[in-house]
Amino acid sequence: MSCRSQLASWQALQKSANKMKETHLKDLFANDSTRFEQFSTQIPGVLFDYSKQLIDSSVLAQLISLAQECDITAWRDKMFSGEKINITEDRAVLHTALRNRSASSLVVDGENVSSVVNAELQKIKLFVEKVRSGQWLGYTGKTVKDVVSIGVGGSNLGPQMATEALKSFADDTLNVHYVSNVDGVQIASVLKEIDPETTLFVISSKTFTTSETMSNAKTAVAWFLESANDNQAIAKHFVAVSTNLEKTAAFGIADENVFTMWDWVGGRFSLWSAIGLPIALYLGFEAFEAILEGAFEVDEHFKTAEYQQNIPLLMALLSVWNTSFLGFDSQAILPYDQALHMLPAYLQQGEMESNGKHVNFAGNTVPYTTVPIIWGMTGINGQHAFYQCLHQGNVVVPADFIASIKPQVNVGGHHDILLSNFFAQTEAMMMGVDAQQVRADLTAKGKSEAEIAELLNHKIHQGNRPTTSMLLDTVDAKTVGRLIALYEHKIFCQGIILEICSFDQWGVELGKGLASKIEAELLDDSITHPHDSSTNGLMTYYKQRREQ
Ligand code: F6P
Repeated sequence: MSCRSQLASWQALQKSANKMKETHLKDLFANDSTRFEQFSTQIPGVLFDYSKQLIDSSVLAQLISLAQECDITAWRDKMFSGEKINITEDRAVLHTALRNRSASSLVVDGENVSSVVNAELQKIKLFVEKVRSGQWLGYTGKTVKDVVSIGVGGSNLGPQMATEALKSFADDTLNVHYVSNVDGVQIASVLKEIDPETTLFVISSKTFTTSETMSNAKTAVAWFLESANDNQAIAKHFVAVSTNLEKTAAFGIADENVFTMWDWVGGRFSLWSAIGLPIALYLGFEAFEAILEGAFEVDEHFKTAEYQQNIPLLMALLSVWNTSFLGFDSQAILPYDQALHMLPAYLQQGEMESNGKHVNFAGNTVPYTTVPIIWGMTGINGQHAFYQCLHQGNVVVPADFIASIKPQVNVGGHHDILLSNFFAQTEAMMMGVDAQQVRADLTAKGKSEAEIAELLNHKIHQGNRPTTSMLLDTVDAKTVGRLIALYEHKIFCQGIILEICSFDQWGVELGKGLASKIEAELLDDSITHPHDSSTNGLMTYYKQRREQ
């Protein structure tokens, strides 16, 4: 039974990891003044500095050998050409075709993918222009003022993250609201803010069967009909994005109001499809196209750059190095840019839903940790929350620090303060503060020997915490496209290196099935349930008290 861990490069890396576990990053910097030049690279709009990762040139060479032994190039070509690399669902993986800005065309299973994508883009463009210009009218003849996007997971996180990232560029043509949670609190608070005569609902669901989305959509229709009182009016206020035309029709959405996506677009990679419609409605079609262009640039970089300069591949190799070799099983995403505040949540789904699995392509359990736990928040807020643990906790959490050089909004002096925190934190995480420095500092403050002895260990920071720094020119539509595509290809490479089927999500499907069975049991007044004693007890307790 072959396994990645039997590869020569894997075994060499294991030996290097043992050595590196005894090495301190500050010594690597002290012994080599060219680390930044050696371990940083760039593409237009993005500087990628990985010199503060716990590697040296020999580890990097071994990681590159690992990529070669895993045949990343061949797998990458299979993905771009539409081979069915999603083996457990027997599907192609073609989100890259959604942003292919070249004239090249791609035929998969007899379907000209490029022309169906372009036709759908054209439909999105026309619709967006109609709504934004005020030609699309509601049932009382009024123009649209609010868009409510209903969807969950990949049908929500991408558009909402991009909307948040780019709202500085929005004009006041439309407001956009997102509803993803089946907790009625969310939809109720949105419905309070809008007017049925001037609202357009976009129901986004690849399958059009996801219970949370369907419940929210039904609630929205019922709320709308309370005012419109006419089923014909639905056509003017409800559109859908889905692969499932049967279900959208059964729901009552006219076929011409359905924007298509395809089974070769995974939910968490679907921002580039009509799932991105709320972004285009909010910011205009040109901004949406700029997002696609940024991603396309990265696709070209991923396809053509040498391994040593290939940023998504380097990101994946560093993640595998940190997680599977050095044993750091968590990773923080720390944007020093308010616009990117939803990036950690977006990447949590991207990475953990893709590679949070324990068997390889052949279905055999792998002997290494696969995906780390991805988490984070804006760096500045994190500094005043969990950075204490990042600096002095006894777990090491590698982190991606992301900032922009030019702020979206220049408020006197703020940006330099923000960036000084970014630079200071990455430096401190690498260097730490040793006993000698603590002693010198306390002595300078006039502390006695006894006081110093008491405080010394508490004030030592071990440092040696690996970080990657990404400096973006600015956060605009193109850069958002670039950034997301970098992480998408990272996830792809990580999956290939770890031999994980990145494009299915059986763990999520399990949850969907389980909840629907229990939902029916909750409707039944009986207090006998066929579950374990804890689940039975909880359900009974809930049922007995819900009406009180
Ligand atoms: O969150 C899990 C998931 O299966 C995602 O992969 C998908 O993006 C999401 O559910 C929503 O599914 P759908 O778009 O079919 O409603």
